[in-house]
Amino acid sequence: MASFKFNFSNTEDILETQDEKEIVWLSSEEIVPGNQIKSLDEVVTHAKMFTCGEVEIGHVLFNIETFSKESSLKNLIEFSENKHSDLVTGKYEGGLKIWECTYDLIEYFETYPDEINFKDVKVLDLGCGAGILGIYAFTKKAFVTFQDYNKEILEHCTIPNVLLNIEEEEREDEIKRCKFYSGDWASFDELLEESEVFDIILTSETIYNQQNYKKLISLFQNRLRDNGNIFVSAKTYYFGVGGGTRQFEAAIENTNLKSKVVLKRNTGIQREILKINKS
Ligand SMILES: C[S@@+](CC[C@H](N)C(=O)[O-])C[C@H]1O[C@@H](n2cnc3c(N)ncnc32)[C@H](O)[C@@H]1O
Repeated sequence: MASFKFNFSNTEDILETQDEKEIVWLSSEEIVPGNQIKSLDEVVTHAKMFTCGEVEIGHVLFNIETFSKESSLKNLIEFSENKHSDLVTGKYEGGLKIWECTYDLIEYFETYPDEINFKDVKVLDLGCGAGILGIYAFTKKAFVTFQDYNKEILEHCTIPNVLLNIEEEEREDEIKRCKFYSGDWASFDELLEESEVFDIILTSETIYNQQNYKKLISLFQNRLRDNGNIFVSAKTYYFGVGGGTRQFEAAIENTNLKSKVVLKRNTGIQREILKINKS
């Protein structure tokens, strides 16, 4: 096992790789919101705002002290901290922090408001972490499915985050516009109804590991409506782990997916947004 560090802007990401054969990927399951609706007041005291231009999205602050009562989550955080890693392949895939390409995608939608209409369409926030992209689509009246590798993150972070962005008296009803799934992408794809497709798939910082490209591409092919759009916001290269936008473009070259770079950011480590459609 080896770990790699790299710096960009004012944050430092640390990624760690592991041999594919050692990994047992977690199975997917649907997480149904329950206690989170009643206990939201407890987490609101630990909430803060994600701001990007005019967009403001409330989200819970995530640290060991705040969530020390939740043993499974505490273990997960301690595990990653002890490993000095922002992600540990197959165990914890980085969902506890908001990664910078999330900002790029929201900024892109705000700059080109006519690019996508979210009203009443089905959106998948794939590898959602805090769920900022899905919440953005939700506030624009989409029906949103949130997927994250770690169940604990959905239960203690993503679901409270969605609820924080709904008026108190509407929470019980409005949360029904959202679904939540944990686990590995291959298993998630198997768990969904065969007919389930999305108009828009949003995904940020999920193409760092080339070992996952096959299942990611298959999920895109199976779950994108024929005239739908996928937006992949990512770095051009993830040092140490080897994935990046060029590698992902190469991986979809001989498939029925076609990709176009719609935004480039050159500050710090180069970042891009790929818009992908079925050809
Ligand atoms: C680096 S985090 C990015 C989180 C969030 N999209 C953001 O930009 O802040 C990568 C996310 O991809 C998801 N992920 C990575 N590999 C996965 C896999 N094999 N199966 C399912 N989800 C995976 C995890 O849920 C994780 O939250």
